[in-house]
Amino acid sequence: MWAIRVSTLILASGALLAQVENIAPLTDEAARGKAIYEGKGNCESCHRIKGVGSAAGPDLSEVGVRSPEQLTTKLTNPDAEINAANRPYRVVLKNGTAVNGRLLNIDTFTVQMMDDKQNLRSFVKSDLKEYMFVEKSPMPSYQGKLSDQEISDIVAYLSTLRPPPGQGRGGRGGRAAAAAPAPPPAAEPH
Ligand code: HEC
Repeated sequence: MWAIRVSTLILASGALLAQVENIAPLTDEAARGKAIYEGKGNCESCHRIKGVGSAAGPDLSEVGVRSPEQLTTKLTNPDAEINAANRPYRVVLKNGTAVNGRLLNIDTFTVQMMDDKQNLRSFVKSDLKEYMFVEKSPMPSYQGKLSDQEISDIVAYLSTLRPPPGQGRGGRGGRAAAAAPAPPPAAEPH
């Protein structure tokens, strides 16, 4: 009965599907993963899913487009692969104050970044002792802090977080845009 209703809605429209997704039951594994994500994993202190949580780290609302292997690696060895759009950046002022965040723009004289408290910051290069990308992720490794089972539960949960079907979602960040296939070339007259 329930299944029939859901599939009718799925056929009805992508917008409705987005709503169904929110109430669709998770598998046991994904439900356990969600509880760890919200609980002992403390992921919400840095991440946001569908508007809930912190904006310090990337929004994970659509992170299920990543493979389970990539997600597992992110949890056990966060430095191994950092998505270009999330690459951490750091400036150090001449007085020694360090500011960490994400690079938005850099030109001959200035550096603009979003700091890890989500403030837009602009610096004049001549005020800076250094400015650079950082290879070390601000995200802690969960290797040894969560069991293999707990990590695979979280990965099962993250894998359910998908863009609404039928929506190109080229908008936010570089991620969706990078994942989207290139548009077909305009028909060339011969
Ligand atoms: C101290 C803050 C912090 C905590 C706590 C944290 N993360 Fe992260 N996470 C980040 C930052 C910053 C990035 C972006 C840099 C990177 O990819 O390493 C990130 C990246 C990620 C990514 C990759 C996103 C992408 O689009 O490539 C995933 C997945 C992720 N975190 C999941 C989690 C989960 C699940 C937890 C909890 C078990 C968690 N994080 C806890 C800060 C954090």
